Amino acid sequence: MLRLGVLVSGSGSNLQAILDAVAAGTLAAEVALVLSNKPDAFALERARRAGVQTAVVSHRDFTTRELFDAALVQALSAHRVDCVVLAGFMRIVTPVLLDAFQDRVINMHPALLPAFPGAHAQADALAYGVRVSGCTVHFVDAGTDTGPIIAQSVVPVVDGDTVESLSARILAEEHALLPTVLQWIADGRVVVERSDAVGRRRASVRPR
Ligand code: GRF
Repeated sequence: MLRLGVLVSGSGSNLQAILDAVAAGTLAAEVALVLSNKPDAFALERARRAGVQTAVVSHRDFTTRELFDAALVQALSAHRVDCVVLAGFMRIVTPVLLDAFQDRVINMHPALLPAFPGAHAQADALAYGVRVSGCTVHFVDAGTDTGPIIAQSVVPVVDGDTVESLSARILAEEHALLPTVLQWIADGRVVVERSDAVGRRRASVRPR
């Protein structure tokens, strides 16, 4: 059974989607650890309600990102995590985490990458005036929202949208997409390969 470590900082609605899929039997995985960098993250409450192990590792207790990541690796390894999910985890991760879990760290981003990376994706998409946006699940690499894309869902942007209304529409798609992708990973169907054309690393999903 695939053992997930879910890193969170906030509300944890994506974590909830994972927990619900596991409970419903549509995701053959176990949430081995929910780890937050913030002690008051509501995501921790969601984990406790589901009977899932939690840990808090505050970034404020470390002088460098690398030392913080080393503490994350220690906690994740202690819980024998196979795959790390960044689900609203608002910290930039370093090679210390990425090397320990090579091609096994995934992130949910609320835009259609490579458009609108960064922490204000929905506002940036609205400001630009795009007519569609969406969400992207990708492997994490050393850049910001640059790793190999596994899957994307598209939502319309409608006239009168606010950051809140667009975010809510995207979030509903995130909640459907994330458990689906995790099941693909559990099934061993997601591989990272080097594309011939530009040497870029890209993900592909093998047919069932
Ligand atoms: C989501 O919009 C996700 O795309 C982004 O952070 C948000 C997390 O929301 N990375 P939640 O904590 O899962 O509710």
